[in-house]
Amino acid sequence: MSNPYASFPKRVTICEVGPRDGLQNEASSVPAADKVRYIEMLVDAGVLVIEATSFVSPAAVPQLADADDVFPAIHKRAGVRYIALVPNERGLDRALAAGVTEIAVFTAASETFAQRNIRMSIDASLATFAAVIKRAHANGMQVRASVSTAFGCPFEGTVPVGNVVRVAQALLDAGADTLSIADTIGVATPNQVIDVVSALREAGIGLERFGLHFHDTRGTGLANIMAGLQLGVHEYDSSAGGLGGCPFAPGATGNVATEDVLYLLHGMGIETGIDIDRLRDASRFIDGVLNGRVVSRAYRALEAAATRGA
Ligand code: COA
Ligand code: ZN
Repeated sequence: MSNPYASFPKRVTICEVGPRDGLQNEASSVPAADKVRYIEMLVDAGVLVIEATSFVSPAAVPQLADADDVFPAIHKRAGVRYIALVPNERGLDRALAAGVTEIAVFTAASETFAQRNIRMSIDASLATFAAVIKRAHANGMQVRASVSTAFGCPFEGTVPVGNVVRVAQALLDAGADTLSIADTIGVATPNQVIDVVSALREAGIGLERFGLHFHDTRGTGLANIMAGLQLGVHEYDSSAGGLGGCPFAPGATGNVATEDVLYLLHGMGIETGIDIDRLRDASRFIDGVLNGRVVSRAYRALEAAATRGA
């Protein structure tokens, strides 16, 4: 029998979103110095792409209001992409002042979520981001663009695949270099991943242009990554320890955990360049700061093995 996994990518890029998607949803506030240490520990583990923070309204996300202090304080490692979210021109001003070289803009595939999250219609956000992307590029920045609620909306329910393709294409037309297609609330099942990825590919969007972002709210995170691998997608967002969620998406829990993803990928012989034990060290550090919020199952297994002296 032929190996059904033979066509899987040999190497996958993990975009670590713990410091941003993870910490934005935590009730307790994390001191700026601990955020910096956390980011540096994740990069020490081998993470090459990391969402470090957000330059959004401090009223919208108070947890990341210290972005202006955190971002410049990170000791940057050559070859690592440190990404910061920017929702508007004001955010871009702040990001430029902080020395950011890659931003992430973000809109949604559903109208109600766009309104709740960024207080703009989808079309207004596309117009805003077209200008932001242009100025970011003029300043030598790279731009990643996220399409939230691509697999379901907490307010509208089902999201037509055509909406995802329209918004993704519009962001690329506006100049975005790469895309992250996000299951913000963790409702996707693998057949939907096949549908969305196939539709993006049929619209002419290459595998080098987009990654996938899953939340594990209903336990389908890894299954969805398997579906993505089957279609050759080689970039995934995940958060160390499985922290995370969106304050504007009721009921959403954490991102699929980086440790769980690494365990799956490495077990299948797929390289990531990340050392799972050192990544676990970063999760252990932030778990201490947050008083026990890490939920990753692979993390718990690693910690149990360490306790047994295994
Ligand atoms: N950085 C800091 N402050 C900002 C800002 C930014 N990027 N953008 C707006 N503000 C401030 C304004 O200065 C204004 O302050 P004031 O009340 O003291 O005058 C206030 O926020 C409201 O500004 P306005 O332009 O009217 O924004 P808004 O209230 O329509 O909110 C966003 C729009 C996009 C700024 C806000 O919804 C936001 O930051 N959303 C991000 C949500 C997020 O990060 N979600 C998770 C990621 S998926
Ligand atoms: Zn998310």
